[in-house]
Amino acid sequence: MRIGILGNGNMAGALGAHWVRAGHRVRVGGRSPERAAELARQIGAESSGQLNEIAGFGDATLLAVPYGSAAEVVRETGGALAGRVLIDCTNPVGPGFVLTTAEGPSGARRIADASGARVVKAFNLCADSVWRHTPVAFADGPLAVPLCGDDEAALETVRALVRDVGGAPLDAGGLDRAGLLEATTAFLIGLWVGGHDPRTMLPPTHAMA
Ligand SMILES: NC(=O)c1ccc[n+]([C@@H]2O[C@H](COP(=O)([O-])OP(=O)(O)OC[C@H]3O[C@@H](n4cnc5c(N)ncnc54)[C@H](OP(=O)(O)O)[C@@H]3O)[C@@H](O)[C@H]2O)c1
Repeated sequence: MRIGILGNGNMAGALGAHWVRAGHRVRVGGRSPERAAELARQIGAESSGQLNEIAGFGDATLLAVPYGSAAEVVRETGGALAGRVLIDCTNPVGPGFVLTTAEGPSGARRIADASGARVVKAFNLCADSVWRHTPVAFADGPLAVPLCGDDEAALETVRALVRDVGGAPLDAGGLDRAGLLEATTAFLIGLWVGGHDPRTMLPPTHAMA
């Protein structure tokens, strides 16, 4: 499939490299043509371009910019994302591991409203260092990747892209659940940065019976 990536940083590189390896046509967009071209070269992507050009390219588009820049980037795409599958991996998390969207809708909902895209929240839970594993699978098998979205066709597209990184898609509800996923991520980042292993606080499912 054709995949456009908005942003040329860590997440763009980590996920883009998997999708190039899986045989997709990947293009990278950034505000600096040089930096976008450099990432495209590093991961072996087809090419790079301006944000609005890349936003109109993909069967799926990854939004991989800081949450605080998302509204500006969506504006710069000039409506090109409307109706498209947009993967939102952003985390509206500020200093102290709190949500910057605590008052009001989730980040994903705001991005959906601003872009008119069919947004799927995905890939936001784990650090780019995790996504760089090839495949993204550990002792328990493929990493489960929670997805929140309302559009079944968009979800199916993103499930395929999760499998392409070696993960296992985990349907986690509609876009109205994305705020909970964003809050969970903020909470977990706080634990991880504090040196804790959040896995130790989760009992096995059979213990819940
Ligand atoms: N890194 C992680 O571990 C991780 C994990 C999960 C989710 N996330 C989320 O993924 C998103 C990207 O994170 P990252 O680590 O890849 O960030 P990053 O390495 O800092 O890269 C951010 C990218 O966004 C671009 N950007 C920033 N402001 C922009 C603007 N106004 N217009 C156009 N482009 C702009 C930057 O462009 P320039 O190169 O021109 O500055 C850069 O390409 C964030 O929302 C983050 O919360 C990150």
